[in-house]
Amino acid sequence: MTKYGSFPGTRPRRLRTSPVMRRMVAETRLHPADLILPAFVREGVSEPVPIGTMPGVVQHTRDSLKKAALDAVEAGISGIMLFGVPEDGKKDGRGTAGTDPDGILQVALRDVRAEVGDDLLVMSDLCLDEFTDHGHCGVLDAEGRVDNDATLERYAEMAQVQADAGAHIVGPSGMMDGQIGVVRDALDQIGREDVAILAYTAKYSSAFYGPFREAVASSLRGDRKTYQQDPANWRESLRELELDLAEGADMVMVKPAGPYLDILARVADAVDVPVAAYQISGEYAMIEAAAEKGWVDRDRAIMETLTGIKRAGARNILTYWATEVARKLR
Ligand code: PBG
Repeated sequence: MTKYGSFPGTRPRRLRTSPVMRRMVAETRLHPADLILPAFVREGVSEPVPIGTMPGVVQHTRDSLKKAALDAVEAGISGIMLFGVPEDGKKDGRGTAGTDPDGILQVALRDVRAEVGDDLLVMSDLCLDEFTDHGHCGVLDAEGRVDNDATLERYAEMAQVQADAGAHIVGPSGMMDGQIGVVRDALDQIGREDVAILAYTAKYSSAFYGPFREAVASSLRGDRKTYQQDPANWRESLRELELDLAEGADMVMVKPAGPYLDILARVADAVDVPVAAYQISGEYAMIEAAAEKGWVDRDRAIMETLTGIKRAGARNILTYWATEVARKLR
């Protein structure tokens, strides 16, 4: 008590007195099973290639990817989301390598499935930007605009080859209208009702994808503002959400994560399907860069961002730190 009257009348600090007290009352707990590792695999390399903008992340060889998948199983995380980087010269306007059964992503899906079986969910990015020479997420029309409906035809084929190659879950990330419905139909038509769809529902046009563009050797000039969402808006996320659910999304995702926690919270409130969030390359790079300079405590910063994302409503989190964090949690 102070000599100034009856304050403080209540003492919330009591519940913060010790680590065990704080642990008991924690509302949010991270668990390895929450986590999904995004991973890059590059065609035609014999050694993993470090990604300069993402210290600690590499473009895997087929072998090092298998090892990363086994490490992920060992660490107890739930899934691995694969991105393919085709050999130089194999990109074209239609993203042919994305539907070639021997394209790098399909090869990697088969490799990883053979390695981990059903102990890890094997997921695939379902998008054309890694495979097109212009770097857009779809095919272009005669005027050079991304052609929505022609792109959907390509996504349908991609879904089928990815399912054939062993994907448990496909992740359409191109933000084309109707993509979830078309992918669901394409999968069902080949009898793959079992393959789930993780829909990139609210995907914003973000500066924080910057490092990823190096990771997949993207040739994009310009931007994705005619298909990815405007950071100024939240209502259209709910519109996208409605559509994705109606079209058959099994899970929905918000991306990026950190700068869009309000969107994540709104989406999580609105649905009864699992909600995922993707802590993207730029969110990763910022912490790694600041930590390297000694400006933030790396481990605390990582845990704090992941806890914040889960607290905001994410059931699952895609993060490049998935395996490392899962090991710490065990
Ligand atoms: C599209 C895709 C992108 C990312 C995941 N899927 C790039 C983009 O939309 O520009 C970015 C992931 C990251 O930045 O970590 N294939």
